[in-house]
Amino acid sequence: MAITRFLTGITTSGTPHLGNYVGSIRPSVQASLGDNVESFYFLADYHALIKVDDPVRIQRSTLEIAASWLACGLDPEKVVFYRQSDIPEIPELCWMLTCVTGKGILNRAHAYKASVDKNQQAGNDPDADINAGLFMYPVLMGADILMFNAHKVPVGRDQVQHLEMARDMANAFNHRYGNLFFPPQEVIDDNVATLPGLDGRKMSKSYDNTIPLFASEDQLKKLIFSILTDSKEPGQAKDTQGSALFEIFKAFASEAETIAFANEYAQGIAWGQAKQKVFDRLNLELSPLRQRYEALIQNPEAIEKVLLAGALKARKLATPFMQQIRHAVGLRAMQAVTQKKVKTEKIALPSFKQYRESTGLFHFKLLSAQGDLLLQSEGFSSPKEAGLAIKNLQINGSVAMMELGDLVRLEAQASQEQLSEAFEALKQAAEE
Ligand code: TRP
Repeated sequence: MAITRFLTGITTSGTPHLGNYVGSIRPSVQASLGDNVESFYFLADYHALIKVDDPVRIQRSTLEIAASWLACGLDPEKVVFYRQSDIPEIPELCWMLTCVTGKGILNRAHAYKASVDKNQQAGNDPDADINAGLFMYPVLMGADILMFNAHKVPVGRDQVQHLEMARDMANAFNHRYGNLFFPPQEVIDDNVATLPGLDGRKMSKSYDNTIPLFASEDQLKKLIFSILTDSKEPGQAKDTQGSALFEIFKAFASEAETIAFANEYAQGIAWGQAKQKVFDRLNLELSPLRQRYEALIQNPEAIEKVLLAGALKARKLATPFMQQIRHAVGLRAMQAVTQKKVKTEKIALPSFKQYRESTGLFHFKLLSAQGDLLLQSEGFSSPKEAGLAIKNLQINGSVAMMELGDLVRLEAQASQEQLSEAFEALKQAAEE
């Protein structure tokens, strides 16, 4: 099976709430534990600067969010977990993408447009109080994603447009400079994407209707008891449809528990009782996580270490890839154009080997210079098809592999890094 790379970011502008947990943290941590996946999760602190100008809050939020993900089971050995601002290649790539993105596209970005509309309704200048960071937000997000050539990006529905834009940026760049970027796809879990808040609207910091993920038990209980309900009396049947309380319960409960709770609604459970049930169910899941969170938050130095180790892993990919990108656009060292590079001693190269199986199908594999198996193809019906796939890999390297991955299921037998290295060596040899 080809490996799928997931990537997602969380803006460090607040304290994680239940909506973040249900919509992002929990499913992402779950997904990171699966086979054949590679996960890149990061703290989007450059994004936070767009709306927060309080340095203490940025730092505090970064700590709280990192501790939350770790408390919720993120394994930093398995996931590349890092802070955006530790990767200088991201803002550098952001600039490259800025230069292939139409300004008109950004004019139509929802978040920016909403701010403009608000100004216009108030009779103000359309761009009053709007910083250029908000305008550039989708490009920075594109850089986050394309920097690591993520295939799948778990996000909320409100981010779909940003993924469309990231695909546009990948295609625009590839069209001009050669295939370097994989056009990413959003992943939206419809069951959990939008958790309602205290007032029944989507749980969101901007509506001030959130329940902090790691509220103390007392606070959690208080907040759950403040969830808006209708005025039906005990004994009166209650509607699960449109009940924020029910939706919140459902996001934590099994299917059987949810059906049982719906029955209690039909039988007229009192709101107070229903709220107690919701509190008990949520606390059952959250209480062990809360304990871990509290221990982590007491030890910021340990979290700092985890993040720096993650940045190191991320930059192992970002630094050489950025080098390739710089080269592709023409940011290159000075060099006489006509002068052929002096051929150095021939060094051993990775090589493709084609062969035919007893099934009659044509396969190939990629071996490292030392003869280790790096990549294994499934069968092609003709040697010509296998040859074309090899050619594509020679020219387009890792990106071709990601594309081909779905079609013929190339099986990686080595890390992405080893593969990139091998492709890079082949490409350089071909250019000489
Ligand atoms: N814009 C995302 C949000 O507000 C956060 C984010 C920043 C992100 N960069 C990203 C999400 C890259 C996914 C991929 O939720």
